[in-house]
Amino acid sequence: MANKRLEGKIAIITGAASGIGEEAVKLFVENGAYVVAVDIQDELGHQLVASIGSEKVTYHHCDVRDEKQVEETINFTLEKYGHIDIMFSNAGVLGSLSGGGVLDVDLNEFKNTMAVNVYGAAAIIKHAARAMVAKNIRGSIICTASIGASLGGAGPSGYTASKHALLGLVRAACNDLGGYGIRVNSVSPFGVATPLACAPFNIETEFVEAMICSQANLKGVVLKARHVAEAALFLASDEAGYISGHNLVVDGGVSVVRMLTASL
Ligand SMILES: NC(=O)c1ccc[n+]([C@@H]2O[C@H](COP(=O)([O-])OP(=O)(O)OC[C@H]3O[C@@H](n4cnc5c(N)ncnc54)[C@H](O)[C@@H]3O)[C@@H](O)[C@H]2O)c1
Repeated sequence: MANKRLEGKIAIITGAASGIGEEAVKLFVENGAYVVAVDIQDELGHQLVASIGSEKVTYHHCDVRDEKQVEETINFTLEKYGHIDIMFSNAGVLGSLSGGGVLDVDLNEFKNTMAVNVYGAAAIIKHAARAMVAKNIRGSIICTASIGASLGGAGPSGYTASKHALLGLVRAACNDLGGYGIRVNSVSPFGVATPLACAPFNIETEFVEAMICSQANLKGVVLKARHVAEAALFLASDEAGYISGHNLVVDGGVSVVRMLTASL
């Protein structure tokens, strides 16, 4: 690749074993980064490393719900590479669709969604930012939010609440870390047929994509994990050098238009 946009940068990506995170690992490495890929799906994580090569990517087990594991992951990266330039906090869960509406919300499920999507991101941001500040790194932190961060109805209530909270966390972190030169942003995708989106329906990827496309504003293109990874790459790179506190929607415009059905 002629123009490597993350040449020599050290990045951590959570939720890296699958979907958007997996694509981000590949894209960041293609762009010259050294990546610590973090997840709880160890087998998939090791397969990813084998497919890319262990000189550029390392798999590290970490459940983001556990602050000790998060801190240990940051220390692991510091021992291996000395500093951290980019933190892509992408791990997330949808929660069960049944028991997702507010009238019959399963509060244990709600709590777990908040634990991964919000508490996990807070722990990641805290420890990554501390490492950046300690080493005087003007780094980039990116979180994967969702169109559900700005709209109701894009998932179970716990998911919507968690992604709204995540956007608030990103803005708070933007405020708290700007003085250290650290940028904090989010990417907010529309539907992508990853395991997170496909599992609840138990149908083939192509049917989920067809379902998503039927609700999309932008026609003639299927939103892929790669599109979201490209947006994260931009925010991670020096090209986004003065962008902080931004929520980069990757939704083909669906969140700013009102969709009318053909029959109306
Ligand atoms: N797929 C979509 O339609 C869509 C839309 C908007 C936002 N998102 C967001 O994108 C992000 C990535 O999801 P995806 O679609 O690639 O799904 P995915 O299921 O393919 O990937 C999510 C990854 O997060 C990991 N993970 C879950 N809990 C974890 C934990 N406690 N600790 C560490 N890792 C954990 C999973 O093991 C998995 O590998 C999520 O934050 C999700 O909310 C997805």
